[in-house]
Amino acid sequence: MIVTTKQLFQHAYGKYAIGAYNINNLEQTMGLFQGNVDSKAPFIIQLSKGARSYTNKKMLEAMTKTANEIFPDAIFAVHLDHGDEATCMDCINSGFYSSVMIDASAEPLQKNIEITKRVVDAAHAKGLVVEAELGKLGGVEEHVSVNEADAHLTDPKEAEIFVKQSGCDSLACAIGTSHGAFKFSGSQGLHFDVLAEIQKRLPGFPLVMHGSSSVPQDEVARINAAGGQLKGAKGVNADEFKRAATLGVTKINIDTDGRLVWCRVHREAFRDDPANFDLRPPGKVFMKEYAKFIAAKNVKLGSAGQLDAVRAFIAKK
Ligand code: G3H
Ligand code: 13P
Ligand code: ZN
Repeated sequence: MIVTTKQLFQHAYGKYAIGAYNINNLEQTMGLFQGNVDSKAPFIIQLSKGARSYTNKKMLEAMTKTANEIFPDAIFAVHLDHGDEATCMDCINSGFYSSVMIDASAEPLQKNIEITKRVVDAAHAKGLVVEAELGKLGGVEEHVSVNEADAHLTDPKEAEIFVKQSGCDSLACAIGTSHGAFKFSGSQGLHFDVLAEIQKRLPGFPLVMHGSSSVPQDEVARINAAGGQLKGAKGVNADEFKRAATLGVTKINIDTDGRLVWCRVHREAFRDDPANFDLRPPGKVFMKEYAKFIAAKNVKLGSAGQLDAVRAFIAKK
């Protein structure tokens, strides 16, 4: 069942976070649905601009719709990840998405508000909800002085102004994470102080954490042992997700970890069976491993086991 992120956030707020996972192909789609159904978790399926053009945006729609039929118990939102204004409008008009993200975070505050508001007006007119972003992810390194580092993080005062003026439904905040497999050079973690201040200024408002892959070290070691070269890869401590959830984070974005599962499975498969040239044996292993990974991640997010409660909550509304 396709729902909006707003419905999922209303149930989750302050208690747990919903996993937002990116898909690009059939194997990821099958593993994703299987893992969420197995762990009885609601989830968000994220389609990026790159994913929409990898094959064809219609293929992503078709796979998602078909997965919805194959897994009738699944409850999920369909969300555009990191959209520009034109892509948001395309998704809003498609009739398929339930949620879009407008990422104008590279623009100055006022321009970000203007762009976001245009997308919000168009989305709300069609019953969709909008995630926006304020602050810059990444670039927060140990050697950068605190003031410089803080300049990359979301300013809580600006967050309050931004949400009020743009009318967005959820806000992606920069609190020390970054995209990809190389997040931290030392022992940094999440900036819970910034998150707490944002929640104080925006009580009850759903916050989003991007760049939240954990980059499991055993996964990295297996990839490197099978010929990979991922030296110094490091991610977010998944044991911090629940604390983030109590501070208003209702959506946690994870993409890189899934790519690592894909990389490990395929590197090991071809190392261990060099005579194989068939795509299906490693594909089958990947779908199983990805489902296992998703189910385990949902336990860390606290979304595992929430499916029946979410179904009842949505039915009551
Ligand atoms: O935040 C970005 C996501 O990991 C999606 O990545 O733009 O390469 O599809 P992508
Ligand atoms: P990761 O690169 O940490 O998986 O983050 C993904 C993300 O934020 C997608 O929007
Ligand atoms: Zn992101």
